[in-house]
Amino acid sequence: MTRRKIAIVGCGQIGGVLALMLAERELGDILLLDIPEKEGVVKGKALDITQLRPEVGSDARIRGSVDFDDLAGSDLVLITAGMPRRPGMDREDLLQVNLAIVRNLAEKVRIHAPEAFVILTTNPLDAMVYAFHRLSGLPAQRVAGMAGALDTARFRTFIAMEIGISVRDVHCMVMGGHGPTMVPLPRTATVGGVPLACLLSPERIEAVVQRTRDAGTELVKLYASGSAYFSPAAGLLEMAEAYINDHKRLLPAAALCRGEYGIHDLFVGVPCIIGAGGIERIVEMPLAADEQAMLAKTVQAVEEAVAATGLRS
Ligand code: LAC
Repeated sequence: MTRRKIAIVGCGQIGGVLALMLAERELGDILLLDIPEKEGVVKGKALDITQLRPEVGSDARIRGSVDFDDLAGSDLVLITAGMPRRPGMDREDLLQVNLAIVRNLAEKVRIHAPEAFVILTTNPLDAMVYAFHRLSGLPAQRVAGMAGALDTARFRTFIAMEIGISVRDVHCMVMGGHGPTMVPLPRTATVGGVPLACLLSPERIEAVVQRTRDAGTELVKLYASGSAYFSPAAGLLEMAEAYINDHKRLLPAAALCRGEYGIHDLFVGVPCIIGAGGIERIVEMPLAADEQAMLAKTVQAVEEAVAATGLRS
């Protein structure tokens, strides 16, 4: 059996942690790619992870490279490249710098791995996924952004911490753009099947919702020189695993909306079925009036970021 080829583009903090997580689970053979200036780091991380395999019982092959021709034959391309936020910056401040990176990568993927499923985590997320899709020409089903998996994991975490119960039993959904306008939906939250509203007061729910919206910024302040990486890597892993094992998970992801939720020609976080076909389906559900109003606000923020790329006609 041939193993799946998983390319991780960008071997910074997210890329390194993600390579480790993928290797531990032996989900495929891993190619770590970065720019020539990072050759030592990319090869070093690949070799370092290669040497821990006996201890975790994995035979995954991990290789580091600075030659983007090596993308050829990749089943899955996970893009973690890009400048991270620093204190005082919002995700939009990164737009022009990261757009240049995404433009270059879209070209490389189009040439070398046009059959791959591509997941991006570069900020500002929703605009960068739009740009990648537009510039690569890959089918919409095979281009997605990872934000909803992370934002939902954060929402689940804070709900569990607030009640003092296991994270395992908390399920919920965060929709919308990856930024301060994101839309955590407490109405969708259950704890072992019990609606959240039976366990927390409206004030405590609101506090949890706000902490979820601010979670990325809370970490940028703590790290002082970069943004979150363990939890974003885990979000990418969750989506990668759903694709490779054809799990058909229902996870929020930035997917191209063509009328769903009244959104047209934008990548926005919506509930998706993720399986071997990539984004196999966008799941629609009725929203309450206040939820719809919050979604309209987040869509406007995504529209503005996409307009700044100059790619939307
Ligand atoms: C965050 C950054 C990665 O939300 O956008 O932590």
